[in-house]
Amino acid sequence: MDGNLQPNDISGIVEADRAHVWHHLIQHKPFETVDPRIIVEGKGMRVWDQNGKEHLDAVSGGVWTVNVGYGRESIANAVRDQLVKMNYFAGSAGSIPGAMFSERLISKMPGLTRVYFANSGSEANEKAFKMVRQISHNKYGGKKNKILYRERDYHGTTITTLSAGGQPERNAQYGPFTPGFIEVPHCLEYRAQWDLTGAEYGKRAADAIEEVILREGPDTVGALCLEPVTAGGGVITPPEGYWERVQEICTKYDILLHIDEVVCGVGRTGTWFGYQNYGIKPDFVTMAKGVASGYAAISCCVTSERVFEMFKENADDPMSYFRDISTFGGCTAGPAAALENMRIIEDENLLENTIKMGDRMVANLEALSEKHEVIGQVRGKGLFCGAELVADRGTKEPLAEKLVQAIVGDCMKQGTIIGATNRSLPGFNNTLCFSPALIATADDIDEITNSVDEALTRVLA
Ligand SMILES: Cc1ncc(COP(=O)(O)O)c(C=O)c1O
Repeated sequence: MDGNLQPNDISGIVEADRAHVWHHLIQHKPFETVDPRIIVEGKGMRVWDQNGKEHLDAVSGGVWTVNVGYGRESIANAVRDQLVKMNYFAGSAGSIPGAMFSERLISKMPGLTRVYFANSGSEANEKAFKMVRQISHNKYGGKKNKILYRERDYHGTTITTLSAGGQPERNAQYGPFTPGFIEVPHCLEYRAQWDLTGAEYGKRAADAIEEVILREGPDTVGALCLEPVTAGGGVITPPEGYWERVQEICTKYDILLHIDEVVCGVGRTGTWFGYQNYGIKPDFVTMAKGVASGYAAISCCVTSERVFEMFKENADDPMSYFRDISTFGGCTAGPAAALENMRIIEDENLLENTIKMGDRMVANLEALSEKHEVIGQVRGKGLFCGAELVADRGTKEPLAEKLVQAIVGDCMKQGTIIGATNRSLPGFNNTLCFSPALIATADDIDEITNSVDEALTRVLA
C-alpha cells in the first residue's frame, strides 16, 4: 500500500482497515481470517456493506443514534453551508447556530434554561459531574460532593464516567476509579430485589436510594444521576411510582437530579426527552446521540437557571465561574445539524410515529413471546425496546450469552441488524435491543420482528 488508496478500491479499503483501524467494542483476532465489516452507504432505514449486502438497521447505527435515518441531504446541506461560513471558534464566544439551537432546544424543556455544548455523551456527563463538584466547593465547603449512580446504568467511557457506571463488565480492568461515586440499586421489577409488585415495588426501589443517602449522610450527597430508561443495562423501563418518589427524595435532601438522556433524548421514547414521560423536574439533562442523529458530533449539558446562577454569584472571585472548555464543543457543525434534525422530527411528525411504531414493536414482540418460551419479558418506551431472553421462564435463568449472540448473528445473516446487551452485567448479557430510526414504517417493524421470529426458531431448534 502506498498511501494513495481510492474510495472505490473496496478490497484495498478492507485491507487498510484490517491493517490499521482499531474498531470499537470488538475482539480483533477473528479479523485475521474474516474481513472486518465496512458500512459503505446508508439510506433511510437501510445500510449497505462492502459486499453490497443490504441490511435493515434496527439499532440506528448500532448504538441508538441515527434517529432521523440515513442519507438526509438537508442536514448535510445545513452543515456544509455553516462550515463554509464559519466552522469553528472556541466556545468562550457564541455562534449563530449555537444560539438558534439553544433557543429551540430550551423551548422543548420547560424549567431548564442553559445549554453547555460538548461533543460526546461521556463528556456532557463529565460536565455535570464537574458542576456538582464545583457547587460542593463553592457552596458547601467541599461537602455534598458525592454523586449517586444506579446499578445497571451507564454514563460513558472515560474513567470518571465509568466511576459512575453500574455495569461491572464495562468497568472491569479499568480501575482505579474516581472517588466519590456511590451505587444505588437498580429498579428492574422482572429481577425484583423485594417481594413486591407494581407501584409498591417502584416506591421500594426508590426508597432504596433514600437508604443509601441516609447511610452516606445527606450532607455529603450532591447529586443523583440516572437514565430515564436504562439502555445498555437491559432496556429497563421504570416501575410505576418510582420517579415520583425519586423526585421527592431529591427535594427532601436538596440533591441535584441529573438525567442522562444520551440515548432517550430527542425523540427516542416518543417525547422530546425520556424524563418527560414521568413528570420529572431535573436540574441537569445531558444528551448526545440523537441530538444530530450522528450527522455531526454534538452533546449538550442542559441546566436549570438555578444551577447556572451559582456560577456567577461571586463575579469578583476569579475561580468561581465554570472553568471548563470542550474544544470541539465550539464546532458549529453540531448545532447546525441539530437544528435541521429537530426540524425534520417536527415536520415529519416523528414523535407521533415513534409512539405508534413503538406500540407495534412491543405488540409484535409480545406475540412472539407466546410462540417462543425463551422470551421472558418485553420492555419498551417508544422505539426503544428490549426482549429479555431466559433459559427457563419459571426460574428466569438468563439465556446463555452465546445463544443470544447467535440470535443476533442469525438476524444479521438475514439482513436485519439488531442489538443485544453486551459486556454489561456478568451473566445478564441476555436482552435483545431494538431502536430503529424514528422514521420506521409498519412494514419495517414487521420485517424486524419476523427476522427475530426466524432466528429464534433456527437457533433454539
Ligand atoms: C446512557 C448513556 N450515557 C452516556 C453514554 C456515553 O456516550 P458517548 O459514547 O457519546 O460518550 C452512552 C453511550 O452509549 C449511554 O448509553
